This record gives sequence, C-alpha cells and structure tokens, in this order.
Amino acid sequence: MSASDQENVRFSKGLEGIVAAESSVGYVDGLAGKLVYRGYDVNTLVENCDYEEVSYLLLNGELPNREQYKDYSSSLRKKRQLDNDTLNLIRDLKDTHPMSALRTVISFIGARDNRSIEPDLETQKSISIDLIAKIPSVVAAINRAHNSKEFISPDDDLPFSSNFFYQALGRRPDKDEAKMIDEALILHADHGMNASTFTSMVVISTLSDMYSAVTAAISSLKGPLHGGANERALALIQRVGKPENAEKVISNMIASKEKIMGFGHRVYKVYDPRAKILKKFVETVTKKNGQENLFLTAEKIENIMAQTLGSKGIFPNVDFYSGLLYYSVGFDPSIFTPIFAVGRISGWTARSLEYLSDNKIFRPRGMYVGNRGPKEFIPIDDRQ
Ligand code: SDX
Repeated sequence: MSASDQENVRFSKGLEGIVAAESSVGYVDGLAGKLVYRGYDVNTLVENCDYEEVSYLLLNGELPNREQYKDYSSSLRKKRQLDNDTLNLIRDLKDTHPMSALRTVISFIGARDNRSIEPDLETQKSISIDLIAKIPSVVAAINRAHNSKEFISPDDDLPFSSNFFYQALGRRPDKDEAKMIDEALILHADHGMNASTFTSMVVISTLSDMYSAVTAAISSLKGPLHGGANERALALIQRVGKPENAEKVISNMIASKEKIMGFGHRVYKVYDPRAKILKKFVETVTKKNGQENLFLTAEKIENIMAQTLGSKGIFPNVDFYSGLLYYSVGFDPSIFTPIFAVGRISGWTARSLEYLSDNKIFRPRGMYVGNRGPKEFIPIDDRQ
C-alpha cells in the first residue's frame, strides 16, 4: 500500500465498528439490548417455536408452514446417525479437548464427502442441512467418549434439542429440561458478525466449501474471548464458591486488570437479552437440583460487576449463565463450548450461504507500519 493509499483508509483495531457485509439473517441492537432473527424478536421465537423452526427460518428466510416443518424435521432426523468410521475417530480422540475433537471430526466428515468440492449454492445448502443434523450427534458422542461411556443412537421420536440431550447424557430430558435446552440452542443460533460467523464467511468467500467454513468457525469459537468463555465463567463461579467471597475475588481481579469471563461485549453495552432468559432458567433449575448456592454466587458476581463496571457498559453476556445452566443439568464443563456450536451451526451456515449467493472474496488491507526503506542490502556473509 502506498503512502497516498494509506491516507484514504480508516484503520479500526479488531474491525470494531466496521461494516463488512450486508445481511438479512439477523440483527443485534447493542444499545436497546435486542436480538432479531429474520425480523422476529428472539423472545417471541423462544416462546413460540422450537429449534428446528428457528433453524429453518435462518436458512430460508421465513418460518416453515406445517408441511415444510414436517419435511425439514424429518430430513434432519434421517441424517443424524454417524457412521462407524466417525464414531471410531471420536473414540480415538477421547482424551483431547472436546472443541479440538469437534474441529477434527467435522473436517474428517467433510474430507469423505465428494460433494464438498462443488461450490454451487444448492450443494452447499444440502451440506449445511447435513451439518445441522450431524453436529448434535457428533458433540453428544464426543461427550460420551470423553466420559468413557457407550455411544447412544439417536431417538427418532425426539426433536432436535431433546435428542441431543438424550444422546449426550443418556437420559431423556423432562419437560422443563427439554424447554431449557431448546431455548438455549435457539438463543445461540445466530448473533451478527461475531468472530466465528465472520470466519465461516471469509472461508466460504474463497469458494471453498461448507465443511471448511464450519471447521474454521469451530476453531474460532474455541477461544476464551468468544465461545470458550462459558467454561471459564463456571470455573470462576465455582472458585468464588459462595456469595460472601465474591466481593474480594472480583475486586482483586478487576484491580489486576483481569478479564472477568462471561462479561462485556463488543456490541451490547446493556444487558445481553440472551443472558436475561438463561438466568431465569438457571434460577429455576439450580433451585430444583439443590445447587442454588452456585446461582446466588453468580448473581452476587453480577451485582458487583454492575456496581464497578456497569457504567462502562459491561454486563453479563450469553456465556455467563449458559455454562451454569448446562452444568446444573449434568453436562461437563468441557462440553459447554461444543453445545454453543450445536446452536450456532444454523447461523454459520445461513450467513455463509447468504454471502455465497452474492459472493465477493473478503480481502481487507493491512496498514503497513514497518520500515519503508529502501534499506541497504547486505549479503548474507557480511551480516552481523
Ligand atoms: C461471545 O461478538 C459476538 O456476538 C459474540 C457472542 C456470540 O453470540 O457470538 O456474543 C458470544 O463471544 C460473548 C463474549 C464471551 N467472552 C467473554 O466473556 C470474555 C470476557 N469479555 C471480554 O474479553 C470482552 O468484553 C469481549 C472480548 C467480549 C469484547 O472485547 P472488546 O470489544 O474488544 O472490548 P475490550 O476488550 O477492548 O474492552 C473494553 C474495555 C477495556 O477497558 P479499558 O482498557 O477501556 O479501560 O472494557 C474492559 C476492558 O478492560 N472490559 C472488561 C471486560 N470486558 C471488557 N473488564 C473486565 N472484565 C471483562 N469481561
């Protein structure tokens, strides 16, 4: 980039505030604390729809009618089963972190699907539906292997979220648990140009394939500044242990400029609407399971954060209460971020397909801040 070129560009670290694409999939209003999928407020969707309907909505732009819902639901059910090679690989990876295992397994499934080399929209949409169907089974099997338990075959009578719960934990959810896991997955389904979604779009923009885009998105979600925060947020709540300890631990962390996991957001400067819904579930489930102390500790941490950093717009994000919720129904912390991926797969694929339909390769520019030279060239034998 020449010096004159550089005068005409705007640099924003971490692309903060930069618009990188148009989309009609979803909208995050960070000041009003609103999340919208295809025009519907997410609160309306969690109250009235299940994950399969929301997934269809994100992919297709409209909610399904009864017949479309039946077709979509049955095509997802038909594709849930994993083959033996995939299950063997999952068994081999039982001692790796579940997010690393998930990344590897999705890449493996893609490497064996010859369709993946066709960059056309229809093929990539069909792969997307396969991935939406299979990711829950992969994550559930990873959870089983990680805990040295037998794999569980899908139950065709159960819808998406309840079947995931069943395959992962080996028991069918009760009515409240079924509602809880379904709402949690809906709330994670899409969220603007977050890091993992942007990653998937960058990959698809090269006319690569959906498996590669989703494998890259999983790699991006894994980090503690993104989806990996839920596991660490629970670890913090457990370390604090009881409400009386919260003031001291959190003040010390803030004084030493440590980031409190599960708080803050690039877009929300008010309470994350997803955290509000998840918090309600956590309160109910922890009370029922005799783990109310963890909820009260989390709430105390939230209050201290509001007093100290609330004026800076730092509030709980989706990752603060989700981990505690999953833990209270029996999920291991190492599986929290893979559960995030089970929900987010619909958003990754919907936005990647939308981008592919009017594609332009992503290729931003870097601001060169190095030596502009020309430096004197010194032959290798004369260099110090
Ligand atoms: C997700 O983008 C999405 O939509 C993501 C997501 C999705 O659905 O896809 O919503 C999911 O990734 C949620 C975020 C999970 N991550 C965490 O909970 C990690 C902890 N949070 C932060 O590290 C941070 O808030 C980020 C990464 C979420 C946002 O980072 P930004 O926008 O780059 O903000 P920043 O780090 O520059 O912080 C701005 C200021 C700083 O203070 P100053 O230097 O201005 O004095 O706020 C402070 C920060 O120190 N700050 C925090 C804090 N978050 C921000 N201080 C203490 N604890 C925190 N958590």
